[in-house]
Amino acid sequence: MIEPRDDLTLGKLSLSYRVLFTGFLLVIGLGLCMAGAQIMLTHGMADGKPGLSMNDIVYSYYGNRSGSKMEAALTGQMKSKAPDDVRFSMIQWVRDDAPVAEWIKVGPLFEKYCASCHDATSGLPEVGKPEVAKGLAEIDHGASIASLTRVSHIHLFGISFIFLFVGWIFAMAEFNQRWKLILISTPFAFLVLDVASWWLTKFWPGCAWITMIGGFGYSLAAMVMFATSFAQMWLPRWTKK
Ligand code: HEC
Repeated sequence: MIEPRDDLTLGKLSLSYRVLFTGFLLVIGLGLCMAGAQIMLTHGMADGKPGLSMNDIVYSYYGNRSGSKMEAALTGQMKSKAPDDVRFSMIQWVRDDAPVAEWIKVGPLFEKYCASCHDATSGLPEVGKPEVAKGLAEIDHGASIASLTRVSHIHLFGISFIFLFVGWIFAMAEFNQRWKLILISTPFAFLVLDVASWWLTKFWPGCAWITMIGGFGYSLAAMVMFATSFAQMWLPRWTKK
């Protein structure tokens, strides 16, 4: 096994490279935290409760096939937005397959209780409009094939570049050679596993746990590589040799 050449270890890099790599790792680290927060805020709330759970993952990819987004909202996050009898009429309408003819009755309710937030400027679905309300009343089939394809390719291209550079920097660290190879390769393996798990969950909701493991796996590998790289670039123990 070829060990890194002595002049290539992180502690011996010139200040310029250490500053460059530190800047890169700090920004990427911040990006990863934001990605985590974004997952908590979007997928994390999919089941109407804060925090990422297995149900969130199932709802996001497989969908909540026991009901529609509208019903889930009316019994979950939006529960406090209208009195019970109003929500009851709305849910009845949703369960009757959202007949357009009945809109004269329920339309004004959506207009009165919901449209104040769900207006054109809010970026939220305009539930005061019949076609929007009807769309949300359909059974939720989760992520579409089109959106999964789009997100998958962006994810695979984008994240592999992040780990190429993170791994490149970490490759210059002094570290047990076997563990170094494992740490450099795991993020790529987990990345493929993660994306594969979305597709599997789309068709078999029982696969949601793979998504959890995928995300956990590369976060852990990234943390070890970050911490080691920072330490060896700046702590005297490595720079003073
Ligand atoms: C006080 C403002 C407010 C009111 C009033 C309100 N909503 Fe919402 N609604 C929101 C916000 C904010 C979100 C996004 C929540 C999120 O994504 O975490 C949301 C999300 C939703 C969603 C989920 C949209 C999606 O694409 O998944 C539905 C459905 C919904 N609301 C329906 C309603 C209905 C029906 C009413 C009236 C009974 C209503 N809302 C009243 C603020 C409001």
